[in-house]
Amino acid sequence: MSTQVTPSAQTLPARYYTDPQLYREELERFYFGMWICAGRSQEIAKPGDYFLRLVGDESIIVTRDAGGAPRAFYNVCRHRGTRIVTQPAGSFAGRIQCGYHGWSYGLDGRLMGAPHMEDAGFCREEYPLNKVHVEEWEGHVFINLRPAAEPLARQLADLPGKFLPWRMHELKLHKRIVYDVPANWKLIVLNYNECLHCPVLHETLNRLTNYLGADNETPQPTYVGGAMGFKGAAQTMSLDGKRRRDYLPGLGEEERQKVCYYAIYPNFLLSLHPDYMMTHTLWPRAVNRTEVVCEWHFHPAEMAKPDFEANDAIDFWDLTNREDWGISALSQLGIQSRAYKPGPYSPRESLLHAFDEMVLRKEREG
Ligand code: FES
Ligand SMILES: [Fe+2]
Repeated sequence: MSTQVTPSAQTLPARYYTDPQLYREELERFYFGMWICAGRSQEIAKPGDYFLRLVGDESIIVTRDAGGAPRAFYNVCRHRGTRIVTQPAGSFAGRIQCGYHGWSYGLDGRLMGAPHMEDAGFCREEYPLNKVHVEEWEGHVFINLRPAAEPLARQLADLPGKFLPWRMHELKLHKRIVYDVPANWKLIVLNYNECLHCPVLHETLNRLTNYLGADNETPQPTYVGGAMGFKGAAQTMSLDGKRRRDYLPGLGEEERQKVCYYAIYPNFLLSLHPDYMMTHTLWPRAVNRTEVVCEWHFHPAEMAKPDFEANDAIDFWDLTNREDWGISALSQLGIQSRAYKPGPYSPRESLLHAFDEMVLRKEREG
């Protein structure tokens, strides 16, 4: 169902894309105050496996403890504050050890060893690593830096029930491309949420999908999204529309005919295809710069086939991504101009208006 925008709906004032102070406030509100998607459970498959994520300037360690529970910590030693881990991913041999004076922590964050502290009336229990909340949903790892975080389920609302047929937890990462995009993070969310630009910008994509055919859901407080069907003989999003992999095993006839595109605030863009999943996570680096991590995930039964082919999907979206990042960068440049004034949204840009409204609502809530 499409929702309408009011005739007066307009884009946001320039400061939302150009003001470094407002950018820092938004980082607090959205990236330090909400659940953000950090990666995949597969990256921390075994106890001790870890990866780092840079949220604003905060380095976060995401790992799995000996009991199999996901854990996340600030990458800050409790001795003299040193950043502990420098390799972006790897595996801890049972302990997380600081490279300065050798304090070592268990995978549950407890301080296990602190050389030369015995005589100082020192109590190890008082110096665990600073915890960050972490939860998993269908193989996606979410973290929340807010000390009093509500459960992830509350932020996801009714999303988990929607995507059960895709069995996302079964899918495995095949390819990751990291893009450095010279645009505010919100411009990337906006660009993702409409296809009016598709006939103008995406010659290849536009052959596969009817740009006016989006079946959008009523916008929700923590996400927007919808589905799009295929044009002509296309069966998936690939360079030629051909599908070179079996349908994902849980999909019924209806789910095989569409791609679901969901922007799960603030940083997770989830694109579910009949035969694979693509994810984008957004990592703001400055008011006008965002690192975008794009990943392609497939079913392991397909990946095990000797003739498994994925480049048709990867190359297609890499091309489309670059077209989107290029236009987002041009949006950023135009909005930075003194000539920029908020412009009118069309009724078909209702998801964008809903996103802007959410941004303003969160600002009002402080
Ligand atoms: S700062 Fe980490 S052990 Fe001293
Ligand atoms: Fe696009």
